[in-house]
Amino acid sequence: MPKLTIDVIAGARPNFMKLAALFAVRDLFPSLDLRFIHTGQHYDFNMSDVFLRDLSLPDPRIHLGVGSGTHAYQTAEIMKRYEEWILQFPPEICVVVGDVNSTIACGLAAKKCNVRLAHVEAGLRSFDRRMPEEINRVLTDTISDFLFITEPSAEVNLKKEGHDSRSIFYVGNTMIDTLLRMKPRAERLSQHQKFGLEVRRYAFLTLHRPSNVDDPRLLDEIMAQMVWVSQRLPVIFPCHPRTAKNLSAAVRGRPNLQIVEPLGYLESLSLTLDAKMVITDSGGLQEETTVLRVPCLTLRENTERPITLSQGTNTLINNDWTLFRRCVEQIMAGGYRQGAESIPLWDGSAGRRILSILEKAFVSS
Ligand code: UD1
Repeated sequence: MPKLTIDVIAGARPNFMKLAALFAVRDLFPSLDLRFIHTGQHYDFNMSDVFLRDLSLPDPRIHLGVGSGTHAYQTAEIMKRYEEWILQFPPEICVVVGDVNSTIACGLAAKKCNVRLAHVEAGLRSFDRRMPEEINRVLTDTISDFLFITEPSAEVNLKKEGHDSRSIFYVGNTMIDTLLRMKPRAERLSQHQKFGLEVRRYAFLTLHRPSNVDDPRLLDEIMAQMVWVSQRLPVIFPCHPRTAKNLSAAVRGRPNLQIVEPLGYLESLSLTLDAKMVITDSGGLQEETTVLRVPCLTLRENTERPITLSQGTNTLINNDWTLFRRCVEQIMAGGYRQGAESIPLWDGSAGRRILSILEKAFVSS
């Protein structure tokens, strides 16, 4: 019997853990042929290959080797190269994850070749169209046939935008599937020791959003607050290449603020699990800290993942440094909220649910 061919797209760092949740369960679905398509949006060893290694992903079926560029360049180049692949080796379904340029680029290329499109992590909205990711989310959802959602707010958003409820599937969170699967290994890694840190006695910092890091003056303002934190608690800061370009010399070389290269998946998860707090502008870390019940201070004005505020450990700082310092002090004094014990369907089985829905849709069509 012919297999159902599914292209699963990844290109940038936050994609790999989501895609890994599908590959981890593929043996349960012998009728499916999953093909890992790497766009090459991220290409440094520590932005890409280390994740493939840590997550035991297969080699990509094809690497499109696109690399960096402006948004239009990157998106267009991915579309061109992925279309060539589709025309030669057409899949029945294309699965895209998250909200990066690879997501919309491959989604558009697939849809225009009449390939059915599935979006994992659909419906999340920051309602901030200055964010490139928000544009990618809205556009990808608009053309998707299967909308796989992680939290109830996504269903509300999608219905308001006119999506048919029959295309919306609340399946849980593939990133959390991978976190739960990898947690025992990350626990054994005790990565804090490598950096001379003690469990629950350091803050884990990540920063890479254009709105925080592209303007060196704003980045300086944020880093001044991080220096304040480091005078109370050691800070470990794996620095994204985008951020490193604008980081002023003044914050480098401080004993309690360790700036290091971007970390692999396991190293990063290990440091997250043992941190006293996480300070971040990442989307994924807001969810990961909620599951791990580690306090998270998010240096953004909004979040597309509101369940992390209502049920999790996340607080939006929105450039309010008085609030920020109050939260830091509260966390250090042990008075910060722990969040819910669990989030519905963030149980490690989202990948299985997704493949099962796709398999059934194919059999019944
Ligand atoms: C992208 C995603 C963002 C995601 C982030 C995680 C979009 C619009 N943005 O942002 O949603 O949270 O990835 O990292 O898709 N660079 C390197 N090596 C690499 C990759 C990038 O040095 O392997 C540098 C390049 O100078 C590049 C810059 O980082 O210009 C930004 O990379 P890019 O892929 O454009 O976006 P990110 O900021 O990484």
